[in-house]
Amino acid sequence: MFHSVAPCASWYNVDMATFHVTTAQRRYPAVVQRGCLERLSDHLPERTGKIFVLTTPDVWQRHAARLARGLAGRSHEILFYPGGEERKRLATIEALAEEMVQRGGDRSSVLLAFGGGIVNDVGGFLAAIFMRGIPVIQLPTTLLAQVDSGLGGKTGVNLESGKNLVGAFHQPLAVLIDPEVLGTLPEREYRAGLFEVVKCAVIRSPELFDLLETRRGDVLAREPETVERMIAECVRVKAEVVSADERESDLRRILNFGHTFGHALEAETGYARLLHGEAVGLGMRAATFLARRLEMLPEPEAERILKLIEAYGPLPRVGDVSPQALALRLRSDKKTVRGEVHLVLPEAIGRVRIVSGVDERLVREAIEAALL
Ligand code: GLY
Repeated sequence: MFHSVAPCASWYNVDMATFHVTTAQRRYPAVVQRGCLERLSDHLPERTGKIFVLTTPDVWQRHAARLARGLAGRSHEILFYPGGEERKRLATIEALAEEMVQRGGDRSSVLLAFGGGIVNDVGGFLAAIFMRGIPVIQLPTTLLAQVDSGLGGKTGVNLESGKNLVGAFHQPLAVLIDPEVLGTLPEREYRAGLFEVVKCAVIRSPELFDLLETRRGDVLAREPETVERMIAECVRVKAEVVSADERESDLRRILNFGHTFGHALEAETGYARLLHGEAVGLGMRAATFLARRLEMLPEPEAERILKLIEAYGPLPRVGDVSPQALALRLRSDKKTVRGEVHLVLPEAIGRVRIVSGVDERLVREAIEAALL
């Protein structure tokens, strides 16, 4: 067992809607503000070649007018991604790159990734390798992408063997997070995103945890100020973590709380039954049961975490999934290094620890307890 990570004491200041991510590649702003998409052109370089917008038909149908206002008359080309995890493959990247060349793309082009996590991943990776790398601006439109996958520079696609196994770190020029676009997000997707918010609270923000406990009604009703504040705190935490450890050699691993179990569940259920955030919700339950069993986490805090996850449910029922099969899958997670499974376990609300070498029987028991 190793690596304790201290919680951060600061809390979101309502006047501060811009956070900065600082990495070896670049320093860039992550703006959280209702209406910020309308100011997109402020973040574009003055002189660029073709501007490409990668988006899905449904996002385009709902928000094209908003983006057009943000582009303030700058001409652009739309690239449609049909959506879906199954199309997040290298073949799609190749087809999109061909399309960009045919439509005049070159090294001076800029890509805007306008959509949920899959579009952010695909667009980021396309930008990372098109003409050996062009700038990308991330415009996440789901709660999950706004609080997690839209910032931090991880990009990539899936292989037959697993999710996100090919990719690159490609930091964007900017991330614009406009909570107004969440108004049209389907309820199940919104709730799935809330599990990533719970993750953020447990790993590093007791204040956010309190907000989620005490303002559940406002959070679920998408009360604008509460939502903006909640997203901003997640972005503050993520910006801080990525700035400290872009390549996930150390601190960034805490962002995987709930994900090791969650990825195993997604794979075991064929990526068809669970949304990513829901798998993370179930994964956080397993991690909490395990931390309790290892006597790392006091009972009252474990109870609060489990209760909070339940409060933002319902989580899909997966009681038919074999804990044995899940425990086996943990071994093939890409965070497993030389056969050693690394788990992120809570030791307090706002503080987690990376743990390895846990007895497989205890892991199986925790999974059994977590599956609904
Ligand atoms: N979603 C985890 C990370 O960005 O590191």
